[in-house]
Parts: sequence; structure tokens; C-alpha cells
Amino acid sequence: MKSDFWALGIETSCDDTSASVVDGTLMVLSSVVGSQEIVHARHGGVVPELASRKHSENIIPVIDAALGEAGKSLDEIDLVAVTRGPGLVGSLLVGFMAAKGLAWGLGLPLVGVNHLAAHVWAAALDSGARKLPNPSVCLIVSGGHTDLLYYAGERSEYLGGTRDDAAGEAYDKVARALGLSYPGGPIIDRIASSYRGKLLDLPRPMLQSGDFDFSFSGLKTAVAVASEGWESLDGASIESLAASFQEAVVDVLVTKAMAALEATGADNLIAAGGVAANSRLRSRLRDECASRGARLFIPPLKYCTDNAAMVAAAGINRYLERGADDRQIDVDPGLSLRREDGGINL
Ligand code: KG4
Ligand code: ZN
Repeated sequence: MKSDFWALGIETSCDDTSASVVDGTLMVLSSVVGSQEIVHARHGGVVPELASRKHSENIIPVIDAALGEAGKSLDEIDLVAVTRGPGLVGSLLVGFMAAKGLAWGLGLPLVGVNHLAAHVWAAALDSGARKLPNPSVCLIVSGGHTDLLYYAGERSEYLGGTRDDAAGEAYDKVARALGLSYPGGPIIDRIASSYRGKLLDLPRPMLQSGDFDFSFSGLKTAVAVASEGWESLDGASIESLAASFQEAVVDVLVTKAMAALEATGADNLIAAGGVAANSRLRSRLRDECASRGARLFIPPLKYCTDNAAMVAAAGINRYLERGADDRQIDVDPGLSLRREDGGINL
């Protein structure tokens, strides 16, 4: 695909309204994210009804802004790529209807993208490489998912995932229990980064399970139990709990990702999703990969959390591999990466 091919990406699966223009070599011309964090922070989490209402207000201005920043008009766009799932149905529908309307009105091909595949494709944006490293292990850590995949073209397979809370969900719930705002991940990251005290000995769930599954809900309880050791939650106790929680989560994620490299023989690791923006996770992965001679592919911070550039990248790949989707395609809030034959679609 050439650099004079332009895809418009649209993402509205959760609480970020985003649009982006990406060229055929996966260079990003624009990436606009209308965040709803302020709206949802008041409620301590995403309120689906509010999210879809905000997406409806924002979608057209965000698409306009993405085209404007890229210096492109609609008639220069060659492909429309949009998140099809997984996500909140009311949120997905807003982006999907906008994408369908544009594709139909302009006579453009439309590709519906899996949001998790898009997170992985973020690693290829602006890199000059039009492909994902093959073979590689992919660690997807977001607010809704924690998955380990082996990517090797047709031989790709699902290695494991969380049995309960996703990593980002655990961050958000622990933050809430500590009286911190939403989303909790970046706040805990910031607090933990400046913490220099002793770390509490929290459990590392499923560290020795011998598989690639995760479980984070018990950690939440462990933080709650540990917090009872303090008479009241003040700055010092919150810092200690937050930093100790982060260390436990990161320890499990890094250990399992390294075990997956070992087991598959791959020497490329892709880490993606909102939690891949975590400073401690990034530095531990960098160190561990360097010490075993593996290459780490981790998107810049702005492409870790939800954005439409990654959707455009995944969409371009899908379009090249399988062509456009049928016009009857619809959103699928429970869309999985896993195929029935045990393989995965990226
Ligand atoms: O990928 P994402 O933007 O949305 C989903 O697809 O879920 O991920 C959002 C999640 C939230 O749970 C948020 O707390 C977490 O990513 N997150 C972080 C950081 N930045 C965002 N978690 C830990 N450290 C961060 N710096
Ligand atoms: Zn996401």
C-alpha cells in the first residue's frame, strides 16, 4: 500500500470519541481524541448512556477536526475503518453509523475492526514497518481485556487471558477504593512513580499457575485488607498501597509475557492497550526484553489508550488481506479475537 492511500479511522467503543487519517504506510496524518473523562469521573466510571450521548455530540466535529488536521477532504479518503466491537453497544453504534453513512454516501469501502486487534496494530503506527513483527507475543492490557497472544500469521493462537478483572479494571477499582478519581490507572502510575518507601507484600495471583491466564480481582481484596492496617487512609498510606498494588500487577504481567516468549520461541514482544501506557510496566518490559535479547514493540503513550489511528491501521491491514466488509455488517459488542478453529484474527 502506498503513501497516497488515505484511511479514515473512527473509534467510539467506550468513552473516547476519536477519528484519524492514516496513510497506506501506516504513518499518522492526524489523530483526534475527544475524551469524556471529565463527564465520567464524576460517576467513578463510564456511564453507558452518557457515553453514547456524548459520542453523538462529538462524532461529526471530531471527524471534521481529523480531516482538517490531516489537510484532507472527504473525497480524498480511500477507505473507512471503524471499531465494530468489543465495546458498549450504544457507544459502538454512534461511530459505526457515522462510518457506514460516510462509506455509503461516498461510495467507499468499509472495514469493521476488532478493537483489540486495533490496540495491537498501534505498535506498527509511524514505525515505517507496514507489518507487525512476525512471529511475536502480544500482551494486550486495557480497561476491558488482558490477553496474551502468539502472532505468527496463519499459525497465530490465543495463549491466555484474565479469568476475572482486566488489568485496567483492577487499576480503576483499586483507585476508587483508595478514594482516587477515574480513570485510576494514570493516577496510580503517577503516585507510584514518586513513591520511595517500602512496598507491602501483596499477592501475585497466578504467577506460578504454569499457564498464560491471569486473575486480578483477588488483588483488589488484598489491597482492601491491607488498607485496614491503617487507621484512616491518608497520603502516606494511599501512596504505599498504590505503589505496592502496581508492583504486584506489573510483576505478574511481565513474568507471564516473558514466559510466553520462552514457550513460543518468539523474540518479539508487542505490548498494547491503555495499561501499556504505565511507566513501570514499560520500563520493566524494556529491561527484561533487553536482558533476553528480545525486541519490544510498544506504542507511544498517545497510541496506547483508545484512539482511531490504531483502528485505521488495523482496517488497512484487513482491507489488504480480505477486502472490504459487506454493507450489511453490524456492530458486535461481544466480538472476540478468537476463531472457532482456535486461531485468532488480528
Ligand atoms: O485501552 P483503553 O484506553 O480502553 C479500553 O479499551 O479499555 O484502556 C483504558 C484503561 C483504564 O483502565 C485506565 O485506567 C488504564 O487503561 N490506564 C492505565 C494508564 N493509563 C491508562 N493503567 C495504568 N497506568 C497508566 N499509565
Ligand atoms: Zn481500548
